[in-house]
Amino acid sequence: MTTIDSQQSLFSAESYFGTQTPPPTLDQDIAGVRSFVHRQRDLGRKVVLVTSGGTTVPLELNVVRFLDNFSAGTRGATSAEYFLKAGYAVIFMHRQFSLQPFSRHYSHSTNPFLDFLEIETTADTPRITATPSKYDHLLEVLTAYKSVQQAGLLHTLTFVTINDYLWLLRAVSQELSVLGRNALYYLAAAVSDFFLPRQKMSEHKIQSGKGSLLIEMDQVPKILQPLIDEWTPDGFIVSFKLETDPALLVPKARGALERYGHHLVIGNDLHRRKYEVVFVSRGHHGSAASDVTAHWLRISADAVDARGHAKEIEEDIVAELSKRHQAWVDGPQPRPPG
Ligand code: PMT
Repeated sequence: MTTIDSQQSLFSAESYFGTQTPPPTLDQDIAGVRSFVHRQRDLGRKVVLVTSGGTTVPLELNVVRFLDNFSAGTRGATSAEYFLKAGYAVIFMHRQFSLQPFSRHYSHSTNPFLDFLEIETTADTPRITATPSKYDHLLEVLTAYKSVQQAGLLHTLTFVTINDYLWLLRAVSQELSVLGRNALYYLAAAVSDFFLPRQKMSEHKIQSGKGSLLIEMDQVPKILQPLIDEWTPDGFIVSFKLETDPALLVPKARGALERYGHHLVIGNDLHRRKYEVVFVSRGHHGSAASDVTAHWLRISADAVDARGHAKEIEEDIVAELSKRHQAWVDGPQPRPPG
């Protein structure tokens, strides 16, 4: 039997970054983010960082086995499209091979793109055309995709492991901090809570044949704390809370809000996440615990949008967030010290 013993060993963010090694492409990735952010700043655009997909925890340095976190990337990829429609520039930081904006409509498992194409055999040279019944939707998605690309509004980054994610999040947020209140953080990625520091990892594949496997994991530092307090103090920060017990959703979201003191926690239940979410935030009267409000957004399973397509709850999430973020941008600025 395989047993994993999760004992809480505490890493602060500082000790984490002091002992774990950065991903080899970090400098290159961040140079790309820097020029994207500066271009958007010069154009006066708001920028949202969308994190999406699950992080892995490798068990070996030459990795054969790893633990994974649940997330297809639907929430992040879908939201990114609505943020683009709402006029944001988007940094889409996602788990490699998870869903991405635009291409998500043609996911290999549910909607393989080859099924959208036909070979026209009447001409001398065979030509590829779109299946007539799919044409309008394909044209709509392709038009939006091309115009976003042409305008340089979408910058994509990938992570796989929790270590990639933490290094990238820190570096990206430091770059985004130059935008002050014009930066929005939409942290929808499913982030591992426990990891194996590289100093404790086996170099080679863990061998079987010795009976049970006991692995002691360390706790991943709660990265929201330094993000809010140090790396990007003026950004509008939205975190997500995923639960499987509906009764825990609001209390846990509320707990996260009170613990970190950021702007908003969006709670979602695993099985209802496509139809309802709850916005847990402070009201207008300061940070008193009693002032926390829970605002539900719901759609019915058969709802359609203005174009007659199946309605996506991310449309309403992004509309509500754009309003709240704008209120934050326009709100009273803190007085300069002294
Ligand atoms: O992609 P889909 O299949 O559509 O699924 C979307 C989703 C359900 C994964 C998404 O909507 C969601 O809920 N994402 C957050 C899930 C999660 O990791 O929850 P958490 O309780 O582990 O973390 C809560 C928040 O704290 C997250 O915003 C995370 O960014 C942050 N966190 C987590 C761990 C850690 N060490 N530091 C953090 O800051």
